[in-house]
Amino acid sequence: MDLAFAELDARQRYKLLTALVVPRPIALVTTVGPEGVVNAAPYSFFNTFGQDPPLVVLGLDRRDRTTSKDTGRNIDATGEFVINLVDEDLAEAMNLCAVDFPAGTSEPGVLGLELVASRHVRPGRLARAPAALECRLFTLMRIGASRELVIGEVVGAHIRDGLLDAERLRIDYERYRPVGRLCGDLYCRTRERFALRRLSYAQWCAEQGGEETG
Ligand SMILES: Cc1cc2nc3c(=O)[nH]c(=O)nc-3n(C[C@H](O)[C@H](O)[C@H](O)COP(=O)(O)O)c2cc1C
Repeated sequence: MDLAFAELDARQRYKLLTALVVPRPIALVTTVGPEGVVNAAPYSFFNTFGQDPPLVVLGLDRRDRTTSKDTGRNIDATGEFVINLVDEDLAEAMNLCAVDFPAGTSEPGVLGLELVASRHVRPGRLARAPAALECRLFTLMRIGASRELVIGEVVGAHIRDGLLDAERLRIDYERYRPVGRLCGDLYCRTRERFALRRLSYAQWCAEQGGEETG
């Protein structure tokens, strides 16, 4: 089946894109509002896309065409946020953070999620998160009436003891156990993994049993 996106409405495009581009990592973002209230909310339009500078991106819908979500408003006002990565243990609490609490509610407060002070930014990280990225706002882009793209620069990371081999900078996935988002209410675990050896062109030629060409 071929689909022309111009013939689909926004809801249909959302359904298709979020069903096809999976699994997406989940950022449970902690921010502090101008009045000092700590906010936590999950975002799966999330990824990292650079290391120099080290950048992450979040895609935020507006609640309606004019009102930003608390996360976007707080980041815009303070320029700081923390991305708490989500593992199997944190998944249910992450989902509860997406309840549309009234603006100004502190989800960590209501849900009893302990916060730990960050080193480089004002918002704290969640004690239960296996890893957290401390970020400063790099750019906030308003895209159309309904979307904001937050690009953040990672200025620090906290990784739970036992997850990182500090010498080789390798993460132990058996212990990390991050979850990914499929579409809607569906999630996946990352327990089943496989490796593919990356080949140079010369290695690929050798595997074909031939000479390098070109
Ligand atoms: C797993 C998950 C991923 C989500 N991803 C996004 C997202 O990428 N963008 C978005 O605007 N809302 C997303 N949401 C919805 C927000 O988390 C929800 O609207 C939340 O109430 C926003 O809270 P805030 O106003 O405190 O920022 C997601 C919800 C869940 C459960």
